[in-house]
Amino acid sequence: MVKTIYWQDDVVMMLDQSRLPLEVVYTECGDYRKVAEGIQKLWIRGAPAIGIAVAMGVALGAQEIKAQSFDEFMDGLQPIFETINATRPTAVNIHWAIQRIGKFVSDHKDETVDMLKKMLIEESQRILEEDVAVNRMIGEYGAQFIRDGDTILTHCNAGSLATGGFGTATAAMYVAKEQGKRIQVFADETRPVNQGARLTSWELMQAGIPVTLITDSSAGAVMKRGMIDLAIVGTDRTTRNGDVANKIGTYTVAVLCREHGIPFYVAAPLSSIDFTMDSGDNIPIEERHPDEVCTIWGHRVAPDGVNVLNLAFDVTPSRYVTAFFTEKGAFRPRDIRKLSREDVSLDAIRLKSE
Ligand code: MRU
Repeated sequence: MVKTIYWQDDVVMMLDQSRLPLEVVYTECGDYRKVAEGIQKLWIRGAPAIGIAVAMGVALGAQEIKAQSFDEFMDGLQPIFETINATRPTAVNIHWAIQRIGKFVSDHKDETVDMLKKMLIEESQRILEEDVAVNRMIGEYGAQFIRDGDTILTHCNAGSLATGGFGTATAAMYVAKEQGKRIQVFADETRPVNQGARLTSWELMQAGIPVTLITDSSAGAVMKRGMIDLAIVGTDRTTRNGDVANKIGTYTVAVLCREHGIPFYVAAPLSSIDFTMDSGDNIPIEERHPDEVCTIWGHRVAPDGVNVLNLAFDVTPSRYVTAFFTEKGAFRPRDIRKLSREDVSLDAIRLKSE
């Protein structure tokens, strides 16, 4: 599987996903500003992959800090956090990674500045390695809900390109394939940035999973024809009540699934769950540049000056979600809030496939 991001000789190598599938090119990020630019310009995208990029970006930025004391070092980290935090508002993994790193540094107050710089590189590697393990667990739990012969609809790319390992939504597909289940996937093209067309179909073809690309507006028609058994998507931020922010168009897919009696699953690593937020109504939704809608690969397809609303994400209310696949198991939306509590037995609330 192609690597999304890696650390090499004091630089961060980032697969430039904006150029896929035409070119497989890595961009060298020598400082944290370049990492932030890569997140903003979608060279790297997908909530977990962004979280990893944040950790590596902060580690890069830390190397530049000239500090004599722990407090000066902490002060030096703040502008790095602020720059990275300002890149994209919806994916909670950005805040998750910054908070984790902030706590990690605070927990190591007694170390020298040089040691802290080294430890931040190691911590970014740990975040990457943990994501790989989390992907596998999500896949193991999710695959239980996929039967031999199933056709799965997915939206956007919640695949290996969106993570450090083999994806979240796609993890369930890859594990099902490993288990010998014959599956096929329908990938929504996912306008306007076409993550489904450019990334998901490319990734699944490389993995040997039969994939059919459809326009976003075809989803209802293929469901009505009885061609879809289940849908699995990822999430950028899921709130305590089980509401799901994900790529624009996910809500439409969820409502269509309900209409056609098709299970709608969300693959959600705990790093994508915002346990501080009660409802999806409060999730900040990123609005991106009109050019994404008015042009296709550099070619203009809309009149100059037309008004555009380019929402990058939507929020699917929890009532449309059949279950979440997490690294701790599959859970009903109503149980999501319990995953942050230590006094709850997960065995008692874990969902089993029929
Ligand atoms: O704008 P993007 O490409 O970053 O949007 C990505 C998605 O919506 C994914 O489904 C989500 O981040 C989950 S990735 C495992």
